[in-house]
Amino acid sequence: MAAERRRRGAEGPREARNRPRERGAARGERGGRAALGLVAALGLGLAAAGSLVLLWGRWRAAARAVSPHPAEPALPPGATGPDSAPHRFWGSYRPHVYFGMKTRSPRSVVTGLMWLQQRDGAELRHTCEQSDGLQRYGWVMHDGQSFGLQDIHDRGLLLRTEFVKRPGGRHGGEWSWRVTARQDGGAAGSQAALISLFFYVATDGQGTLRPHLEDGTRLAAVSGTSEELGDFKVTFLRPSTDSGDDVPYCSYHYLDAWSPGLHRLTDVVRSSLSSRFVFTPPDGSRRRFVAVDKFRGLPGAEEAAHSHLLLHQVTLRLPAVVEVTFESGSVRERRGALAGPVLTAELARHQAAFERRFEETFGLEHKGFPAPQRRFAQAALSNMLGGMGHFHGRSLLRSPLHHHPVSFPERSLFTAVPSRSFFPRGFLWDEGFHQLLLARWDPELSREVVAHWLDLMTAEGWIPREQILGDEALAKVPPEFVVQHSDTANPPALLLALQRLLGSAPPSYLRRLFPRLRSWYEWLNTTQSGPLPYTFRWRGRDPDPERFLNPKTLASGLDDYPRASHPSEDERHLDLRCWMALASRVLAEAAERLEEPSEPYRHMERALSDNELLERLHWAHELGAFADFGNHSGAVGLRREVGRATPGRPPPAPRLVRVVHEPPRPRFVSALGYVSLFPLLLRLLRPDSPRLEPLLAAMSDERRLWSPFGLRSLSRDSPMYMQRNTEHDPPYWRGSVWININYLALRALHGYAEQPGPHRERAAKLYRELRHNLIHNLYRQYAESGYLWEHYSDSTGRGQGSHPFTGWSALVVLVMAEDY
Ligand SMILES: *[C@@H]1O[C@H](CO)[C@@H](O)[C@H](O)[C@H]1NC(C)=O
Ligand SMILES: *[C@@H]1O[C@H](CO)[C@@H](O)[C@H](O)[C@H]1NC(C)=O
Repeated sequence: MAAERRRRGAEGPREARNRPRERGAARGERGGRAALGLVAALGLGLAAAGSLVLLWGRWRAAARAVSPHPAEPALPPGATGPDSAPHRFWGSYRPHVYFGMKTRSPRSVVTGLMWLQQRDGAELRHTCEQSDGLQRYGWVMHDGQSFGLQDIHDRGLLLRTEFVKRPGGRHGGEWSWRVTARQDGGAAGSQAALISLFFYVATDGQGTLRPHLEDGTRLAAVSGTSEELGDFKVTFLRPSTDSGDDVPYCSYHYLDAWSPGLHRLTDVVRSSLSSRFVFTPPDGSRRRFVAVDKFRGLPGAEEAAHSHLLLHQVTLRLPAVVEVTFESGSVRERRGALAGPVLTAELARHQAAFERRFEETFGLEHKGFPAPQRRFAQAALSNMLGGMGHFHGRSLLRSPLHHHPVSFPERSLFTAVPSRSFFPRGFLWDEGFHQLLLARWDPELSREVVAHWLDLMTAEGWIPREQILGDEALAKVPPEFVVQHSDTANPPALLLALQRLLGSAPPSYLRRLFPRLRSWYEWLNTTQSGPLPYTFRWRGRDPDPERFLNPKTLASGLDDYPRASHPSEDERHLDLRCWMALASRVLAEAAERLEEPSEPYRHMERALSDNELLERLHWAHELGAFADFGNHSGAVGLRREVGRATPGRPPPAPRLVRVVHEPPRPRFVSALGYVSLFPLLLRLLRPDSPRLEPLLAAMSDERRLWSPFGLRSLSRDSPMYMQRNTEHDPPYWRGSVWININYLALRALHGYAEQPGPHRERAAKLYRELRHNLIHNLYRQYAESGYLWEHYSDSTGRGQGSHPFTGWSALVVLVMAEDY
């Protein structure tokens, strides 16, 4: 599958990396030995002290690499708890399950839904999996706070899952769920469809749950107590039909079991299922079905019991409606249960409020978008909001000073995720794009997310790129990709979002952030510096170039986008330089708002956006575009190599290795694509720059970057266009259309179209056409496939990679709104 980019994030041997720092340490030790000789006469005591100091220095550097930043946290303690932020305490913060809720606490009690269609070959559904092959699922509406409505289409079944919250009490309020199950489409099966819905409550290492049974088998309610919820009660109401009548016949089962952790809940339920049950409605059509029976333990699981699971199963015929209420013991006077007609009214009120707020925020109706396209945009925003998660746990970090990974102290992260099925966890540069959209919907929410991310910073000023916090997140990542390497950066795209938030952010907020922003900037400015003044270089490229057509640069976020064929310390990376220009500008603006010294940042901003210097360092005449510089050969290929046979052994499988037809030399990298556009994308080029014309020409040329579906990542006439990197690595950023970069392109074109300059008209025309193409294709693909996708084919427009991908692909909402 193509969508392995971030999983591969931490792969490979890292010995070759961060040599400078290791060399520095070695020099220090040699110096220490010399000093030892000189001071021998002064006695061993002093010498021992000297080496102790050196050891201490090294120990301290190693500790800093993996310890938290010393500044006060960007989020004041308790800021996200039920006292300070009751309105956000409960939420659909479990994006990796189809439907579930939890609180923003480290070891939250969780609730969730599973289902099973009672027919041959049907599978238990719980966590979002691409392999489930659902026709579509996702939030149709979600306000990011108190209400959401989701439709799930699963082979003839339509499940609508809705929640609504109600403030009250001292523990983050109360909520209700409504799950409506119907036949999907006209084609009903020969038998009236039978379905089981499983509602559960589970603990995560703290709190107690008590079942309340009716008639021996129906789990009517669960009462419980936990650290941050106090006393509470979850009630599973009796199902009704669409019209509100009682369902004529259904069957109840329940499970009371212990799981090694939340990440094993599906296994616990699956292993408790038995097919010995018979559905016997009064009309006589008896049939066998599957239900939870006795839990007999997980095969091979010796892990301690950690999560108490109580699960209510109801099996019934379609259509049916089931409601669940969560009530807090701290609510003294309740106006009555939030269920039935009261719930219907509340849901309707929230729907209307969502519609209104959506139009007020994005104005798509006003712009003339028809209803189906507005619903598409609402779904895109809602899925980003409904994809927000709260994660808690420890990252595994590794610095060049450590032989083994070290775990970072426990941290919580409140963040959106790129994909509920494939990347249900936080990714640093993705988040910058996510917050561009969310900052428009709810600036307060965005400010909180940015602060959460900055609080993950280490003492050195590094923020690990991929956040795998807690067992559930970990369960989705192969072990070899878990460790994060402390010399690997990632674009500081969060600063794009911060720039948008600066105007309305309270000074007290900025003041808390500022020391961390400064450290982040310094870390980038020093650890990723390039070979010449005002140049930059991504660290951590694949160290073993012979294995790849072009060694990847995961740090850049653009993974396999072609760079210098032979990684070296002489490289200068254009995109990173442009990111640093943006970072300098945002730091300067923040400093000015706080009346802190801003001149060092302004100075950097001026130097990095000096168009003449930019051209000297990065303009490649032969390419007619900006480019990276490095030790590069334009003539490389992959060849199948048959290993030499050893007598008595089976012949080794042939493998692809790289062949270099022409030796590399220091030069500009011959690739025209997204990286070449960065001075335009981040608007460093002056509107009167003579380089604007060739870039606009490349962008509008069908043989190069223009496609009817958006700008492609790599020129069609580039030698690496759509080339595999190894036999297992299909092309990724080598031609496909990516929405985050297209958003930046539109933003820039919109800007150039508004400023006087010789290319104003051309920018405006390109802007209109690109915007039209992008909206048109994303909408069409969504209507046809049911999803937003990770990237799009530049030849057919088809969605590719992981899905649903309502991370940065949801920026299409801002494109529709022309909000840049
Ligand atoms: C960034 O690094 C350069 C080169 O080391 C240095 O001259 C400059 O002062 C630094 N800028 C800031 C704002 O720290
Ligand atoms: C470029 O790479 C080749 C192959 O690794 C190496 O032999 C050569 O010294 C490098 N040239 C420079 C200038 O780094």
